[in-house]
Amino acid sequence: MTLAASFLGGAKSRLLPRSIPFRFFAAAASFHVLAWLVLLVSAGEATRFRGGLGPALAAVHLLTLGVLVTTAIGASVQLLPVATRRTMHAVWPIKLIFWLTVPGLMALVVGMYEAKTGILVPASAATAGGLLLFCGLLADNLRRAGSLPVVGAYGWAALVMLVLVIAFGVALSLDEERGFLPDHGAGALAHLILGGFGFMGMLALGFSHVLIPMFALASAPAKRPSLASFVAASTALVLGTLGALAGSRSLLTVAALVGLGAAALHLWLMHRVLKTGMRKRLGLSFVLIRAAWIMLPVTLVTGLVALYGLAGDNGGTLFGFLLLFGWLLTFLVAILQRIMPFLASMFVAPQAMGGSPIVSELANARSLRIHAVCHGVACAVLVVAILLENATLARLGSAVGLIGAIAFAWFTADAIRRIWPTS
Ligand code: HEM
Repeated sequence: MTLAASFLGGAKSRLLPRSIPFRFFAAAASFHVLAWLVLLVSAGEATRFRGGLGPALAAVHLLTLGVLVTTAIGASVQLLPVATRRTMHAVWPIKLIFWLTVPGLMALVVGMYEAKTGILVPASAATAGGLLLFCGLLADNLRRAGSLPVVGAYGWAALVMLVLVIAFGVALSLDEERGFLPDHGAGALAHLILGGFGFMGMLALGFSHVLIPMFALASAPAKRPSLASFVAASTALVLGTLGALAGSRSLLTVAALVGLGAAALHLWLMHRVLKTGMRKRLGLSFVLIRAAWIMLPVTLVTGLVALYGLAGDNGGTLFGFLLLFGWLLTFLVAILQRIMPFLASMFVAPQAMGGSPIVSELANARSLRIHAVCHGVACAVLVVAILLENATLARLGSAVGLIGAIAFAWFTADAIRRIWPTS
């Protein structure tokens, strides 16, 4: 039995009310538009961003917290119970997570944009509260799940990373006000590694072991090489975080090389899944997934080259851009445009009972094609803008990215419209 069959078998009985996952997806689609808009406004500063409060940092957190983390929460509270066959105990904690995290991150972004610590510090506490509650929910679900050891391992690692990225985030916010950290820059780099490669990276790699076989109608990757890739990725994360905190170039170099090994093994496993899968025509979303898979090693190599000052003055900025926009955002919007129609199809009448073929109709939406082209062009133009430190090019790239984000929001709104009961 393929993973898809066992996954789908239990799905309907573990469905949360439609407003639960889709409120997170709707929020993420809105923050996606805002992230590109704020990047457009701060384009001049963004091409040479090296941290510090201001509009560029606000754009980074509209993307990281607003799009990546919000989607990760919405997807995991619905997909994990289906994958682990363990229902969530109650729905109210998820609603509380939403009402703490989303308003909290909006205030956090305003505090960053305006460089006002009087807003930044309480907002980071509210956001941290919501995210820690999510950590509790995730831990409870993972604790009761034994059937998927590889996904479980990635889930626990992502959970530990999220607790650490929150801790560093709150410490960095407090340090803006009180200046107690021995090395703020080192803390910020560790925070980036824990958030980008740690929480989001481990979640993306872990969910790939369930979702890619499900989409390709294939069996799950072999356990041993999967666990080897997990161990290598975790080792790279530990070395990378320690290297950032110690300011050690050699530790960061070893971390990047081990990370490249983990990425190569993961990509080989995913290649095997697609090769053995029964479904060969995987559609537009897999054009984006394959692009994201290329961006992962490209990001690590760029980090290495930047570490030795060989990627130009803005090597560090380019590394951060490729990590967040090139790999993570590309992968996430690709997965989101698959899971939203899949989840939506659970809430509408099956075709046999007069329902519309929602999955295929949504998958072929013109909005997705507009988004994919704009996303690709925007990322390419912004890479050149960062290398040349050219604000005009950065504005052009951000404007194209904004059009793409609006198209994706249109797709999200269309999916939600179709599942909302009219009477
Ligand atoms: C409670 C949640 C969070 C808070 C309070 C927070 C706070 C902060 C603060 C204050 C900075 C500025 C550091 C500086 O001066 O440069 C920062 C930087 C950053 N944060 Fe967060 N953050 C949070 C969550 C996240 C998450 C989940 C991610 C990624 C997935 C993330 C990614 C980044 C990145 C990429 C930077 C720039 C690092 C650099 O300056 O090199 N943050 N964050």
